[in-house]
Amino acid sequence: MKTFLITGASTGIGAETARWAVEAGYRVALAARSRDKLDTLVAELGGPDQAVAIACDMTSAADQQAMVAATLKAFGRIDVAFANAGIGSTAAGVENGDPENWRDMVLTNVYGCALTAKFCLPELRKTKGHILLTGSQAGRFPNKGSVYGATKWAVTGLGFNLREELVGSGVRMTLIEPGLTDTPFFDQARPEGLTAADVARAVLYAVSQPPHVDVSELLVRPTPPRDDP
Ligand SMILES: NC(=O)c1ccc[n+]([C@@H]2O[C@H](COP(=O)([O-])OP(=O)(O)OC[C@H]3O[C@@H](n4cnc5c(N)ncnc54)[C@H](OP(=O)(O)O)[C@@H]3O)[C@@H](O)[C@H]2O)c1
Repeated sequence: MKTFLITGASTGIGAETARWAVEAGYRVALAARSRDKLDTLVAELGGPDQAVAIACDMTSAADQQAMVAATLKAFGRIDVAFANAGIGSTAAGVENGDPENWRDMVLTNVYGCALTAKFCLPELRKTKGHILLTGSQAGRFPNKGSVYGATKWAVTGLGFNLREELVGSGVRMTLIEPGLTDTPFFDQARPEGLTAADVARAVLYAVSQPPHVDVSELLVRPTPPRDDP
């Protein structure tokens, strides 16, 4: 049975992707800092035969090495790694931005993502697996003064550079680039956005293609509102 490791699995896009992955027949390794939420999700997904909860801070290389070791201990292999954990801005723009928050975003969104790739790749090479990174629409288009967007441009670059590094390995790379998505990423509900399920469906689309098909990036955005007369 194939194993799907997901970072940022405690809420939002990561948690929903875990549900879709189990439905598609994967066992899932769920990583985030909130162990209580991960434990609840493991129970929902069918218990330890289906899922394992791994408390992990993505900004720590030691934690991420332990995350991979715990996944292998539970399930023996990694077929899909979804580097999805990320945080947003606490204040808009550069001039009014908070440098502490910038450091946290760089460490979580960029450094954390690269660590996930580094420690999962040896296992993905064995399984000829698939790595996916959650970038963003904000990593594809200019976004006024957004340091968050700059971290996602870095994720875009990391993804395409990884793809080059993986040429000949059989390992596929997909950038998942959501537009506005209604998740706990925001303090307020955002009903005008995508649902986490809309993004999870895109993830499962990418990983369910035949081995010769490499879906390099999926930019998924809400349909613009209609101009009704
Ligand atoms: N929502 C949107 O509109 C949107 C659009 C484009 C891209 N994205 C990206 O999508 C990804 C998922 O976000 P989401 O919308 O699903 O938001 P979310 O519900 O807030 O999920 C973020 C996840 O990342 C985890 N996380 C954050 N910092 C972490 C750390 N240091 N170590 C381990 N885990 C950490 C959180 O878990 P813990 O707090 O339990 O650690 C949580 O599981 C992020 O990369 C985000 O940038 C979101």
